[in-house]
Amino acid sequence: MKINGRNKWKLYLAMNKKKELRPYLVLTKKWAKKNFLAMLRKYKSIVVKPNKGLKATNVYFITKRKKDYAVQLYENKCYFPTAQKAYMYMKQKIKQSSYIIQRRIRTAKVNGRIFDMRVIIQRKSTRSPWTATAYKARVARKDRFVTNASKGGSTLTYHEAMNQSNVSAVDYDELLQQIKEVSVLAAQSLNPYYPNKRLYGIDIAVRKDGSLHIFEINRKPALKGFSATQQETIKTFKQAG
Ligand SMILES: Nc1ncnc2c1ncn2[C@@H]1O[C@H](COP(=O)(O)OP(=O)(O)OP(=O)(O)O)[C@@H](O)[C@H]1O
Ligand SMILES: [Mg+2]
Repeated sequence: MKINGRNKWKLYLAMNKKKELRPYLVLTKKWAKKNFLAMLRKYKSIVVKPNKGLKATNVYFITKRKKDYAVQLYENKCYFPTAQKAYMYMKQKIKQSSYIIQRRIRTAKVNGRIFDMRVIIQRKSTRSPWTATAYKARVARKDRFVTNASKGGSTLTYHEAMNQSNVSAVDYDELLQQIKEVSVLAAQSLNPYYPNKRLYGIDIAVRKDGSLHIFEINRKPALKGFSATQQETIKTFKQAG
């Protein structure tokens, strides 16, 4: 079993094999006309993004509205009268590259901006248990749909974000425990594919109701956006192996 290079689709399939993780996965399909039309019918709002995507490049948000379909890339929007026409537009954008389609998750907000969590998961040796060693909230620029720093997103600590967020009726410390547990499950699910890996970065969205949704797992997460102390923790943990 091998997954070469960046491949969100195969990583999704790998995570999907772990039953306990399924409730937290965002429904994902390969780019295909049939899948595009069916998912748009079912979910009203979907995300189409490159299978080997990096830094939120070419992440399209497609939404069924009352009388038309909106396709948004960065701050650019265009509208199509039918799903069929939206599909044709996407098709000529995508050409022959490999893309995936995800259900769009409406994440909770901080000051009207969407946010999600990045969790670093590590193990000291390949026989040691996985542990969440660092986490932060990534907040999108106003009116943007992606939280990546490369697209103007900024960082808050977990508690800063939750205290200012519209996430309701949950205990934030309990939710944090759950975020860590889900992240550990995600890392574990890849053990058969990457037996020697000791670090992952996981993108998890929180919805207003406190439910958790994994956008993706990264094999080479950037550590730049973490505080100096957090980076030190990650480094020390690594060296301990
Ligand atoms: N299904 C989704 N629903 C809502 N927002 C999404 C969804 N998928 C992605 N996003 C937003 O777009 C951002 C970028 O998507 P994703 O993390 O999948 O790819 P990437 O950032 O380009 O890849 P990498 O993190 O490896 O650089 C996410 O951080 C999130 O803010
Ligand atoms: Mg990402």
